[in-house]
Amino acid sequence: MYQSQTVVGRTLASKDPAAADCVWPQDALHCIPDWVYTSNAVYEREVERIFHGRTWNYVALEAEIPSAGDYKRSYVGPTPVVVARAEDGSINVFENRCAHRGAEFCRHGQGNAKEFVCPYHQWSYDLKGNLQGIPFKRGVNKEGGMPRDFRNEDHGLRKLRVTTRHGVVFASYSHDVEPIEQYLTPEILEDFDAVFPGKPLKVLGYYRNELPCNWKMYHENLKDPYHATLLHSFLVVFGLLVAGNKSVMKVDGVHGRHGTMASAKKDDIYAEVNPETKKEMRSFHEGLRLRDERFLQYVKEFDSPWSVTMQTIWPNLVVQREMNTLGVRHIVPNGPDSMLMQWTMFGYADDSEETTRHRLRQGNLMGPAGFLGLEDNEAMKFVQEGVRRSSTDINVLKLESGKVGTSGSLISEAAIRAMYQYYRSVMGF
Ligand SMILES: [Fe+2]
Repeated sequence: MYQSQTVVGRTLASKDPAAADCVWPQDALHCIPDWVYTSNAVYEREVERIFHGRTWNYVALEAEIPSAGDYKRSYVGPTPVVVARAEDGSINVFENRCAHRGAEFCRHGQGNAKEFVCPYHQWSYDLKGNLQGIPFKRGVNKEGGMPRDFRNEDHGLRKLRVTTRHGVVFASYSHDVEPIEQYLTPEILEDFDAVFPGKPLKVLGYYRNELPCNWKMYHENLKDPYHATLLHSFLVVFGLLVAGNKSVMKVDGVHGRHGTMASAKKDDIYAEVNPETKKEMRSFHEGLRLRDERFLQYVKEFDSPWSVTMQTIWPNLVVQREMNTLGVRHIVPNGPDSMLMQWTMFGYADDSEETTRHRLRQGNLMGPAGFLGLEDNEAMKFVQEGVRRSSTDINVLKLESGKVGTSGSLISEAAIRAMYQYYRSVMGF
């Protein structure tokens, strides 16, 4: 076992062990050790092997950078990057770090530019990240300046590989990661393409918040349909996701790292819930009615049997379709105990004004204060506080014990198990 220290007569597990001291508990499938959420060394290995490893990381929607010169600041894992569209229409992703002294040169969230100029010493880069110009390259009055053999070509920004799928832009540090369609796998692609069928998107707005928890907790949360039926009053009361509805928790069959939580709500939002089911759910409140029932209208527009699909795409993307509200959530890890969440809400370019208004209205479900975004933030904060400050050190995952992968039951932890089985193989635990 990893290092322990004795505190007032009892054993306190180290919450920040070195990677070499991290040994996964014996019953590997049904236990998660606290150090995956708290160790700095584990976090550093995750950045290296996962975010900078053989993965495709979400960075932007093409709709955010439609024209030449358009750019957006983004992140791959915690690493700041710029996503830019060049004159030839290509999308380029490079690190937001000046090749000279390391300044994060791009300071605006979004914009249009002919070139990027670092504010510190005004080194300039083109829209593909190539070094263009250096002030006083030849010095002044034949004194100072760069050596004769300095070549701009050798000092460009660090460039990443880029791919797109139906308007969604991904970047990778890996030279041999598989094509995006293969990476996503057929079972995940099916629901992904229902949201992104290839028609032009229209960005409707953003939410942004910091969560005082480990980034993996967000993946777990969306691979955990059990909590959805218990924590979220709104889902339960208005029948959006109720134990007993037609639903599935899908997991990709290749690695087990991506997932889709899918459910079909009943047409009648006030439909009678089975009394047996009701008894198990403390968050069910009888007789609540909405003032504005348009809020929960589901206009069928997708090639899908589901009214909700929540997809976790490893390692940093959530694709969210809750009835007619659409969004992507970009997970930006920020150390073992903090993450940023960037929500981009969108519709389609050919939506009518009425449809746009409907999507925006339903968008109130989402975001840091959304009717069902709200409780997750709080719950994950509680978990981080618990694992960080307690003396015990194991999380228990025994629902539908032994099963790994896709499950037809909401009362299951089989998808979380699949993710950690994959995680352990990549991380060497
Ligand atoms: Fe939730």
